[in-house]
Amino acid sequence: MDNLGCSLTKGESMLEGKQVRLRKIEEVDLPKLRDWRNSPYIRAYTREYRPLNMLNQNKWFSSLLIDQTNVMFVIEKKEDSELVGCCGLTYLNWKEGHGEVSIYIGDQKWQEKGYASDALQLLLNYGFCELRLHRIYAIIFEYNEASIKFFEKNKFKLEGRHREARFWDGKFHDELVYGLLEHEYLEEHI
Ligand SMILES: CC(C)(COP(=O)(O)OP(=O)(O)OC[C@H]1O[C@@H](n2cnc3c(N)ncnc32)[C@H](O)[C@@H]1OP(=O)(O)O)[C@@H](O)C(=O)NCCC(=O)NCCS
Repeated sequence: MDNLGCSLTKGESMLEGKQVRLRKIEEVDLPKLRDWRNSPYIRAYTREYRPLNMLNQNKWFSSLLIDQTNVMFVIEKKEDSELVGCCGLTYLNWKEGHGEVSIYIGDQKWQEKGYASDALQLLLNYGFCELRLHRIYAIIFEYNEASIKFFEKNKFKLEGRHREARFWDGKFHDELVYGLLEHEYLEEHI
C-alpha cells in the first residue's frame, strides 16, 4: 500500500508525496510566507485582511509551538526542495474530531501542476490516519472557482453555504462549506 491509505508516512517531521513533501515551518521560511500572504492574488482567497509584517509572522510562528489547534507545513518540491506553498489543518476541534484545511500555492507559475493535490492527500492522510479526525472541511469563497474545482476533484462534498459572509471587491459573496468524512476518505484509499 502506498502512503495514501492509513499507513504511517515516512520521515520524522516530513510527509512525503509523489511530487512534494510537507515539512515543518522554519524561521527562515517566514519572509517568503509573509510576501505570499500579502500578495493580492492570495489575499483575495484568504480571511486575513491586514497586511502582515515580520512581527506578525514571528508572533504567528511562536504561537504554532503552543497552539494545539493548528498544524501547519510548508509545501516543497521533492526534486529541488524549492518552497511552493503552505498548508495545514486549523481550528482543530479535538472533541468533535474536525479541522479546517488551509492551503495555497504561493506563485501562479506553480499552479495546475498537481502540487496542491499531492499536498492535500498528505494532509488528509495525516488528519484522518494520525490525528484521528472524523471530518476535514474547507471554507471557500464562492468566486474562488479554482478552489471549488480543486476540492470537488479531491472528493469533498458541498455541505452548506454561509450567505453573504464575505465582503470583497465592493460586494458581499457567499462562503461555501465543503467537507470530507473519514469513511469517505478511507473508501477512496483503501
Ligand atoms: C486552489 C489551489 C490550492 C489549487 O492548487 P494547484 O496546485 O493549482 O492544484 P492542482 O494542480 O493540484 O489541481 C487539481 C485540480 O484543481 C482544479 N484547479 C486547480 N487550479 C484551477 C484553475 N485555475 N481553474 C480551474 N480549476 C483548477 C482542477 O480541477 C485541477 O485538476 P485538473 O488539473 O485535472 O483540471 C490554488 O489554485 C491556490 O493556491 N489558490 C489560491 C489560494 C486558495 O484559493 N486556497 C484555497 C482556499 S479555500
